[in-house]
Amino acid sequence: MVIQPKVRGFICTTAHPVGCAKHVQEQIDYIKSMPKVSGPKRVLIIGSSTGFGLATRITAAFGMGAGTVGVFYERPGEQDRTASAGWYNTAAFETAAQKDGLIAESINGDAFSDEIKHQTIKRIKETLGQVDLVVYSLASPRRNHPKTGELFNSVIKPIGKPYSDKTVNFMTGAVSSVTIAPATEEEIKQTVSVMGGEDWGLWIDALLAADVLAKGVKTVAYSYIGPKITHDIYRDGTIGHSKNDLERVAHELDQELKQKLDGQAVVSVNKALVTQSSSAIPVVPLYISLLFKQMKEMGLHEGTIEQTYRLLSEELYSGHTKLDDQGRIRIDDWEMREDVQQKVTALWQRVNGENLDELADMEGYRNDFLKLFGFGFPEVDYEADVNPIINLISIE
Ligand code: NAI
Repeated sequence: MVIQPKVRGFICTTAHPVGCAKHVQEQIDYIKSMPKVSGPKRVLIIGSSTGFGLATRITAAFGMGAGTVGVFYERPGEQDRTASAGWYNTAAFETAAQKDGLIAESINGDAFSDEIKHQTIKRIKETLGQVDLVVYSLASPRRNHPKTGELFNSVIKPIGKPYSDKTVNFMTGAVSSVTIAPATEEEIKQTVSVMGGEDWGLWIDALLAADVLAKGVKTVAYSYIGPKITHDIYRDGTIGHSKNDLERVAHELDQELKQKLDGQAVVSVNKALVTQSSSAIPVVPLYISLLFKQMKEMGLHEGTIEQTYRLLSEELYSGHTKLDDQGRIRIDDWEMREDVQQKVTALWQRVNGENLDELADMEGYRNDFLKLFGFGFPEVDYEADVNPIINLISIE
């Protein structure tokens, strides 16, 4: 079939296998161009098919020579329907890993379920034996609770009072104002259940019980803080509440792993970047496009792959991990630099539909967004007939 982007709101419902492979290869090439990092040789990534999880998997495999087991929830292709981008990304990752003689095993299914945890443990035992690093990088709109069967939905809402600010439709460039009613107690609880730390804890419990965590194991989960202008909708809202919960769980897991395996659990606060998940948060794409313009002009811009390389090489496996006063790694440090934030905050006051292209890097945002689905690569022929069905080497 001929595959073109079909964007509805903040999602693209098609993905291009050749373009997704290019996107993965670009990240592999970046990692191969950087100095090798000595680090873990056996890594489990939960949420490994897109965004930060995929970049971490690529960094571990091609930067450290690690064998990886990746867990994700993606849709395979059909005769007349494309796979989701994460499926094609994983196909490309596995092919490249196999070429380099690296173990790359994938599990497709609901990471919140006991069943997928068991399948993953079985696969680790069969292939890697144990793991030295567990990366928790899930972003999901819902969770079926494995013990009670309840379905929880996450919402992106402020807490306590309504929130109004500007937002942008990044495909059309239309700037409008948005007002979001505050979350109910029930919505806060459900969001924390989906995006908080409980499931990370259940993963570590299950892995510990099965004796597949190696001595000195590390586990890291990803968080975000961001600037004052997004606090009401992000850090002080329902998602931020979930991140507080994730950070609370990190401290508990850290104690437990230290005691049992001389290990470590830590949260890394990452930079705001264009991913399928961040595109769904109102206001954030406008902030990101202003931020990108400034960071690019100041020579400070990074994408997910640069961030995960810095995380593993300069922090987690540097031998001198720097933690903030709450015990978190801060690879959002360049985003949060005072000079960067001062400029972005000043632009935030001024930006509107007329001056958007002048003040913000809207084109960069759109390009990054389309690349997530394999579109916009000049060397890919988007008029060509391609087979949407691509098999994963590790999944029959
Ligand atoms: P993403 O949407 O690109 O990736 C999410 C991953 O989770 C995918 O691999 C997907 O298949 C997997 N997934 C979702 N539901 C699943 C399920 N039920 N079972 C198995 N796998 C499932 O998201 P992104 O942005 O990379 O987010 C990852 C983490 O990084 C999140 O915790 C997010 O809050 C955090 N983060 C993101 C930032 C951003 O700007 N994008 C900034 C800082 C932190």
